[in-house]
Amino acid sequence: MKVNFTETILRDANQSLIATRLPYSKFEPILETMDKAGFYSVECWGGATFDVCLRYLNEDPWERLRKIRAKMPNTKLQMLLRGQNVLGYKHYPDDVVRKFVEYSVKNGIDIIRIFDALNDVRNLEVAIDETLKQGAHASGTLSYTTSPVHTLAKYQELAKDLAKMGVQSICIKDMAGIMGPQEAYDLVSSLKDAVDLPVVLHTHSTTGLAFMTYLKAVEAGVDVIDTAISPFSGGTSQPATETLAYALRQLGYEVDLDDKVLKEMADYFKGVRAEYLADGTLNPISMATDTQCLTYQIPGGMLSNLISQLKMMNALDRLDEALVETPKVRADLGYPPLVTPTSQMVGVQAVQNVLAGERYKNVGKEVKAYCRGEYGRTPAPINPEIKAKILGGDKEIEGRFAATLEPQFEKTKKELGDIAHSDEDVLSYIAFPKEAEKYFAYRKEKEENVAKYTIVEA
Ligand code: CO
Repeated sequence: MKVNFTETILRDANQSLIATRLPYSKFEPILETMDKAGFYSVECWGGATFDVCLRYLNEDPWERLRKIRAKMPNTKLQMLLRGQNVLGYKHYPDDVVRKFVEYSVKNGIDIIRIFDALNDVRNLEVAIDETLKQGAHASGTLSYTTSPVHTLAKYQELAKDLAKMGVQSICIKDMAGIMGPQEAYDLVSSLKDAVDLPVVLHTHSTTGLAFMTYLKAVEAGVDVIDTAISPFSGGTSQPATETLAYALRQLGYEVDLDDKVLKEMADYFKGVRAEYLADGTLNPISMATDTQCLTYQIPGGMLSNLISQLKMMNALDRLDEALVETPKVRADLGYPPLVTPTSQMVGVQAVQNVLAGERYKNVGKEVKAYCRGEYGRTPAPINPEIKAKILGGDKEIEGRFAATLEPQFEKTKKELGDIAHSDEDVLSYIAFPKEAEKYFAYRKEKEENVAKYTIVEA
């Protein structure tokens, strides 16, 4: 049996270990080598890369994608898309979702991994439909979590819904790295029973479970696993590509990776890692094992947010109470998977409940919107009493929230006029207006400087 590998160094490993701070110039020299490694795909775009390119790196994310495409003609390029949230944190109108998918594919993406924080398939269907229309591979994704309502039967049902929409693979996204080996075995087996599609597993090494989790997933017939080249593996990133290739071959599985190429990649990224360790961007602690998530059943990133929130309010002594309150809030809100943006909502609400001395006395606007149904259908119903308290007289929306949003692309394009040089610029602006404006100004200045310089030289 063959096991395929998706390499995450350019996206998730980069995002999880060094807050996505890899500029294009830092990995350009290795792209042509990576193209020969034999990866099933290279995850290189989407997630936080888009935002960070504009916000911190003064890079056009679209240009980055085109450059990667040109250097890696033989490898499938993959991106992560938050369904109706595209790459942001709110719901966008359908025309924006469609344009974003269209231009992602036009600029070089082959596989789009599409997920929704609540696993509400209505938030996935437009992105999936457009991906298929553009001739790309739609990987329908299940956001993994554990709760009394997240049963194997429920995941099977979800996978079947995605299959009906035409996705070419099913991805299990364990963003918190909490999936254990037995859970992986059971879930992959049930999905294999439910649908006739390749199954992909994504997890993180945070708790140290990932190698075992992948091994049991492989035994259950998983088709693709996500790994990171060794210098950027482990801890909050993925387990090491070379280690899994070695172990799986030893166990008799077929692995189509070129070890010489992997070694060249590892040597190259060791140098990059040294630079980020030296300047403090890479904190060695993030590469270590942290089992707190197993105790609290909340993702590591969320735990550090809780701590910093309490510190800011001079209430760190209430951490234990907040940790007890967190799963209660999650249950009240219908057991949402703890991933952006629901992890923030649940964490902030738990802290507010503890500090106010009365539960749901103070409620943020995100939680109100969540209760109105603006994020989609919750996995289990929201506790009705609490919902009534939060909504007051406010009405819940019926149907799909995005259907209530006015088309935005053409209107924004007109408003931007010459500021936008392309449709891609318009999409950057819609996704991150402030950051895109800042980047456009930087680009203009750079162009003017080049013009000035050219004149002087002439
Ligand atoms: Co991840």
